[in-house]
Amino acid sequence: MRRVTVLAAVISGVALVLAIPQVFAAEVAADLKNGEKIFKEGKGTVPACTSCHGEDGMGNDMMGTPRLAGQISQFLVKQLEDFATDKRMDTTMFIMNANAKGLSPEDRRDVATYLHLLGKENLVGGGSNIKELKASGIETGQAHLGLALVSYGDIERGISGCRSCHDYNGRGVDPVYPMIGQQKFVYLVNQLKKWRDGSRANDPLGQMRKVAQHLTDEDILNVATYLTNASPLSIGNTRVPEQHNFMTFDTK
Ligand code: HEC
Ligand code: HEC
Repeated sequence: MRRVTVLAAVISGVALVLAIPQVFAAEVAADLKNGEKIFKEGKGTVPACTSCHGEDGMGNDMMGTPRLAGQISQFLVKQLEDFATDKRMDTTMFIMNANAKGLSPEDRRDVATYLHLLGKENLVGGGSNIKELKASGIETGQAHLGLALVSYGDIERGISGCRSCHDYNGRGVDPVYPMIGQQKFVYLVNQLKKWRDGSRANDPLGQMRKVAQHLTDEDILNVATYLTNASPLSIGNTRVPEQHNFMTFDTK
């Protein structure tokens, strides 16, 4: 499965190698205690991550914050680096650039490793409650239409299936392709619109911008509605998914 996914990614023009060296540059053991302290208490002028991302790191639709718990640690480090160097701008709450700048490279690795492990036991059930969102007046989509785009894409419209890079139900492929299944709905919608209008442009080789440029507003609502509750466990296969075994940094 994994081999097939990686192959598909390579065929669709990915040089996985490009993104890797930077991520593995500093191979020193992560300090989980420091990561936990930053997450729960913040550091200096950086507020506690829990205040926006939730006590459990599962994100919050009303604030538009993402789930961080269980996410691939190297991907989290990359995002924090991108915020720190203004390669990615937080245009939702205008706060993450300052937050990332207030952390040292070691802090970022520590908190990313802590966050990855925090969600490991809790992979399923972190998604949004679509019924509640709908009831509160937020526009949502149709999961079955989202499923088709996630699994197969739409060749005629130039949309690659999300699965070809993000794996089955968006469960992620370390270190480059984030987990997008079980991510918060509002965050997914926001990011897809940002990739589409180019206000988020920190994707290696423009991979996400290429996909998003062909998505309509409806497509975006549909894929986000499906993905937020998509299970990383495939039907009839109760074996622990690879996702539980993402590479992460050594810990001390
Ligand atoms: C005041 C609210 C707030 C606080 C506090 C906060 N964040 Fe965020 N964070 C956000 C928002 C909003 C986004 C989404 C930005 C966007 O839409 O691009 C975000 C995005 C992120 C992302 C990108 C995740 C992804 O999937 O791409 C990471 C990583 C992150 N935050 C880590 C942290 C860490 C670590 C802390 C604590 C040191 C923290 N955040 C504290 C609001 C906050
Ligand atoms: C050709 C490969 C490729 C395909 C196909 C692809 N993606 Fe991505 N996607 C990426 C990469 C690479 C990133 C990480 C970008 C970065 O480093 O910030 C990403 C990031 C994302 C993010 C941001 C996640 C976060 O936590 O910040 C979302 C949302 C997303 N993709 C959704 C989708 C959806 C929905 C589809 C299908 C319609 C899709 N992707 C298809 C390569 C791909």
